[in-house]
Amino acid sequence: MSLDIVVLAAGQGTRMYSALPKVLHPVAHKSMLGHVIDAARSLRPDSIQVVVGHGATQVEQALDADDLGFVLQEQQLGTGHAVAQALPRLQSDTVLVLYGDVPLIQVETLQALLKRCDNQRLGLLTVLLDDPSGYGRIVRNEKGEVVAIVEHKDATPEQLSICEGNTGILAAPRQKLEDWLSRLSNDNAQGEYYLTDIIAMAVADGLQIDTETAADAMQVQGANDRLQLAELERYYQKLQVEQLMRKGVTLRDPARVDIRGEVQAGRDVLIDVNVVLEGTVVIEDGVQIGPNTVICNSVLRRGAVVRSHCHLESAELGEGADCGPFARLRPGAVLDERAHVGNFVELKNTRMGAGAKAGHLAYLGDSEIGALTNIGAGTITCNYDGANKHRTIMGENVFIGSNSSIVAPVTLGDGAVTGAGSTITADVPAGALAVGRGKQRNIEGWQRPKKL
Ligand code: UD1
Ligand code: CA
Repeated sequence: MSLDIVVLAAGQGTRMYSALPKVLHPVAHKSMLGHVIDAARSLRPDSIQVVVGHGATQVEQALDADDLGFVLQEQQLGTGHAVAQALPRLQSDTVLVLYGDVPLIQVETLQALLKRCDNQRLGLLTVLLDDPSGYGRIVRNEKGEVVAIVEHKDATPEQLSICEGNTGILAAPRQKLEDWLSRLSNDNAQGEYYLTDIIAMAVADGLQIDTETAADAMQVQGANDRLQLAELERYYQKLQVEQLMRKGVTLRDPARVDIRGEVQAGRDVLIDVNVVLEGTVVIEDGVQIGPNTVICNSVLRRGAVVRSHCHLESAELGEGADCGPFARLRPGAVLDERAHVGNFVELKNTRMGAGAKAGHLAYLGDSEIGALTNIGAGTITCNYDGANKHRTIMGENVFIGSNSSIVAPVTLGDGAVTGAGSTITADVPAGALAVGRGKQRNIEGWQRPKKL
């Protein structure tokens, strides 16, 4: 059975009070519409059409992907009108309608819904609600068959007491849908072309309305304002941390870890409070992550330790390597196995060999640092001359005295040593001591100035 998916995303989102179109507001760093499109893609449809209106250009630019079609709905005349705008682009047997502001819809639910649609049946996703205010109500006959959807504003008091709400998500046979949409009228409380009116038409045509009920209301919850957006974010986070804990990760407090991307975690991983994981993060067995830490697009190998207050971006910690507290690992920072980076150390585009150490207060940029090399406190690689970046190469077992300035480009051979406070501007051969500082003079009998 071939499938087209139509995502409605033309609405303004007035209650967001935002310059950003509503569907671009993020849940876990990904736009709501991005979540919906990812779910749509998992179904491998023949096409995905996004109906855009308010902020159309911004929405198109934000998504910009070859597999998406964009259809402009110039005026928002209702959900039925919105779907009708996409119809000329569709050719498949079945049309699935999704909402750009309902981001947490699960692929399994959509798969189940699609099984309820064919030429004789329309699949409708409903939800049972304690408070169905605002939702279209599912009207059933005495046999329990769906006969219509009535919008809240058009409902009788009796209909308002129905707790089964319309999620808006449905799957319909395309050719019939085309006919129903062409017959919609806007003679209702809101003067809109309601997509929901096709239900009564389908019943009149002898189709069965086959409902699937969402397992939980949050999955089909839309965000109309920032309060609802925050609810969706919390719910999404809860799902993410539950998945991690099921796979063998200990979270000191599941409510104080945020996952804004894809996390692969091994067993016996320990994550403390206020940790934010962004992008693609790989965490192998036995890794420990201390509190108040941000880790973005990074890899932590077996047994690595990130102590408190660290910031890692596109970095890699080898087996048993450790960093922090208060370490900053910028893109291209790589610690080989058992390497150590301590407090107030910043690394950028720098590899620390196995067992190499930078214990405190250093900036190491564009550098290759050999195994077992020790970087003293206060060491700076001067990698930038104001126009270009240059590399520093250190061999194995080098010892950099405290407060050294290493002016790149420069190479230090295996076992080289620099005296504390040196400014190193020339290569140092293997095994040599380089001292690049003023020689100390002592002046005997020095008269200290007296206060006038
Ligand atoms: C709609 C349903 C209602 C359901 C509810 C679930 C209709 C008539 N009503 O009501 O039964 O319970 O969703 O949340 O369908 N949109 C467009 N173009 C338009 C109008 C809407 O793209 O012309 C988009 C909006 O951006 C939004 C979605 O369609 O993403 C739903 O529109 P909205 O106006 O929020 O519908 P509701 O009144 O909430
Ligand atoms: Ca709505």
